[in-house]
Amino acid sequence: MAASNSPVGFDSVRFRRVLGRFPTGVVVVTAIGSGGRPAGMAVGSFTSVSLVPPLLAFFPDKGSSSFPQIRASGSFCVNVLSADQEPVCRAFATKGADKFAGLGWRPAGSGSPILDGVVAWMDCDIETIDRAGDHFIVLGRVRDLQAGPAELPLLFFQGGYGHFSSLSLSAPAEPDLLEQLRLVDAARGEMERVSAALDVECLAAATVRDQVVIVASSGEPRAGQSTTRVGQRMPFVPPLGTLLVAWEPPAAVQAWLDRLDPKLPERDAGHYRQLLERVRRRGWSISLASAERIAFEAALTQLSVQSPTPEQEKAVRDTAGRVGWLGHEPDDLAAGQTYPVRNVSGPIFNSDGRCVLMLSLFVGRRCTGEEVEHLRDCVLQASAVVTAALSGRHPDERPTSRTTQALPDLPRS
Ligand SMILES: Cc1cc2nc3c(=O)[nH]c(=O)nc-3n(C[C@H](O)[C@H](O)[C@H](O)COP(=O)(O)O)c2cc1C
Repeated sequence: MAASNSPVGFDSVRFRRVLGRFPTGVVVVTAIGSGGRPAGMAVGSFTSVSLVPPLLAFFPDKGSSSFPQIRASGSFCVNVLSADQEPVCRAFATKGADKFAGLGWRPAGSGSPILDGVVAWMDCDIETIDRAGDHFIVLGRVRDLQAGPAELPLLFFQGGYGHFSSLSLSAPAEPDLLEQLRLVDAARGEMERVSAALDVECLAAATVRDQVVIVASSGEPRAGQSTTRVGQRMPFVPPLGTLLVAWEPPAAVQAWLDRLDPKLPERDAGHYRQLLERVRRRGWSISLASAERIAFEAALTQLSVQSPTPEQEKAVRDTAGRVGWLGHEPDDLAAGQTYPVRNVSGPIFNSDGRCVLMLSLFVGRRCTGEEVEHLRDCVLQASAVVTAALSGRHPDERPTSRTTQALPDLPRS
């Protein structure tokens, strides 16, 4: 039913439902209210407005009982909530509650509270307040601001809360995973472009201690394509992650082999080393389907996403051992032949020449040698673009050189 004062014929439910498709971060706007008591409210309608002068805005409801106190104080502090501050958000969205109970805070220059554990804060003086329907538009001039110790913000979407990446990606207790997520930000555009251009799923994987973690994906997974999920942690054992270990020092290669089997016969270890040599020489990686590989991938799907059990990891190691080095990095790909391709991967290097991320195209079908070459060119081009964005370099390049291998243009979608 249309609201009586709406000329375009929609009701408030529809308005909220449609606008709810837009995600926001969450801030708590605080001030010192009358009587010296702190006041605050959860706000999603926050935006930066101007750099010169530094202005930002938020939109309080005329029905808010906290806003009059903020208004009277003449200043406010915007606190950007971190991913684990959902309870703080709920407290500050509840009318009449003792919102600051059990919360640590300190005064900003204006006196307005800076809440403990926030991602960032901005201390402001109120510049203007305008009416806008059932809300006000409050413009604040920033007097001081700072990024906090936490990095991942809380997000609000369709009545629910989440993190910037899927929940399984962001383990706040793992600072090294946060670094991988920063890399993913640089890679996301290229991943989306390559998966759209080729209509395949693209996964980004990185190592975190003795595990390989799928840190991002783009494109739709299709039946028979990838069997791993974003956030999936897998034991970093051969033949997984050849690109991630190929340029590492011998001790890291040995650790990779030992993880599969500390008593691995030297002859077998030699086969894996040859495989790495081929990857280094070519600069990319390919794996082909086989019955053993299907069993290995099935074991991967059994892994609990964030904390696999020792039994699940053993099943992965056992099936990985049966895959062995066969079907990985086949030496000569003939143009006229077809190959049952599982994935084709390219390395992303940082400024130290370390492979910090691996992009894998999940193909899951037979491809001719020419098709494999095209997939290789596409994934190498995407990887080179991301490497350049990270100011990275190939380990064989001198640290000062910034040249990248010339690669054919990927069709832009
Ligand atoms: C995620 C989220 C975003 C919100 N955004 C706003 C907003 O932009 N403006 C607003 O007036 N209220 C917003 N609210 C609601 C207020 O936080 C809430 O109505 C208010 O704090 C109620 O208490 P008060 O009467 O003490 O102000 C939001 C609530 C949540 C949970």
